[in-house]
Amino acid sequence: MIDWNEFHEDDTAIAEAPQPAPAPQPAVEPRAEAPAEEVRESAGQYAAADQDRLTRAKQSLEELDVAAGLEELEMGAARIEVDQKRMINARADLNQLVPFKYEWAWQKYLDGSANHWMPQEVNMNADIALWKSADGLTADERRIVERSLGYFSTADSLVANNLVLAVYRLITNPECRQYLLRQAFEEAIHTHAYQYCVESLGMDEGEVFNMYREVPSVAAKSAWSLKHTQSLARPDFHTGTPETDQELLRNLIAFYCVTEGIFFYCGFSQILSMGRRNKMTGVAEQFQYILRDESMHLNFGVDMINQIKIENPHLWTPEFQDEVTQMILEGTELEIAYARDTMPRGVLGMNAAIMEEYLHFICNRRLAQIGLKEQFPGAENPFPWMSEIIDLRKEKNFFETRVTEYQVGGALSWD
Ligand SMILES: [Fe+2]
Ligand SMILES: [Fe+2]
Repeated sequence: MIDWNEFHEDDTAIAEAPQPAPAPQPAVEPRAEAPAEEVRESAGQYAAADQDRLTRAKQSLEELDVAAGLEELEMGAARIEVDQKRMINARADLNQLVPFKYEWAWQKYLDGSANHWMPQEVNMNADIALWKSADGLTADERRIVERSLGYFSTADSLVANNLVLAVYRLITNPECRQYLLRQAFEEAIHTHAYQYCVESLGMDEGEVFNMYREVPSVAAKSAWSLKHTQSLARPDFHTGTPETDQELLRNLIAFYCVTEGIFFYCGFSQILSMGRRNKMTGVAEQFQYILRDESMHLNFGVDMINQIKIENPHLWTPEFQDEVTQMILEGTELEIAYARDTMPRGVLGMNAAIMEEYLHFICNRRLAQIGLKEQFPGAENPFPWMSEIIDLRKEKNFFETRVTEYQVGGALSWD
């Protein structure tokens, strides 16, 4: 509850005051009206710095075509009904968040916001010492750190650009857009995290950030993702025909199921395996936070794709299903090639052959999540510890303090 009587001219006192966690509020009686105070008409003598500028501002308001603006707003239009809301091609006003239709989207926005973190909070001292010592890591382990930072430092920018420049305007639902805005910020934090690792370790920035144009196994994945954003990013691209609606679905599957759902998994499991061996624990902790965000991005994408299918069953033709299955297989093959390039020999208790089975297992999961047939029946997960890291309920203690800190730190109490 805001007590307006507590506002003083020196409002720094408010900013510095301790902020207790919000407690359940008992029902309160309406407060008695404050005694009337004499209010001055002005705080003192002053004048506009440029009277002519002020006169022009007032004139331009008088000349404003208010009628056209009101038409644009559809002034007086009826209030929104939930049934008018749709994932794509909706006609309902997109400026009004509520009433909610897709509770899952709003819930993910809340969950994502509760998991806020920043890269500078992770202690990188042990990593810096290990990276700089001559015999701290083997050549194969160093290669994995370099390739991971090289791929991810630009991959998250590709994902963010796709969200902001292609997907956002085509998803015509405000609660999904609310999550997309949260996701876009998280992608910025991820790019920041990779930059922070590169800077902390004193790596060659140009070499790392340009790796997606220099190392073939990294370039192939980035090029595959970029190919699927190009048509949607054109300003004249619009949904509304079966062909263009399918093009949007292709993009969502390419980015959520393949880029974020497959291309991230070899690098994530390599770095997390390193952390489990007590090596590069700061980088591994950054990746752990990122993986937690990414698994929510993936789940949100899967929910969006499935909802679009429910609302537009004519798009999900047998031919289209076949094409999409093919896309997911292509992505899996590219990730297997990346695994071979980054692990020419066994390292960190894994090798390219085991990673291949893991990626077949992941591929099956992605296909099943959007209702397609598994392509590698019987593939098992050779890294059950990855599932434990992704399944955050099992990691509750790891994140608990931090999440709580953010929730308290971010909650303003005016009492
Ligand atoms: Fe990301
Ligand atoms: Fe993501």
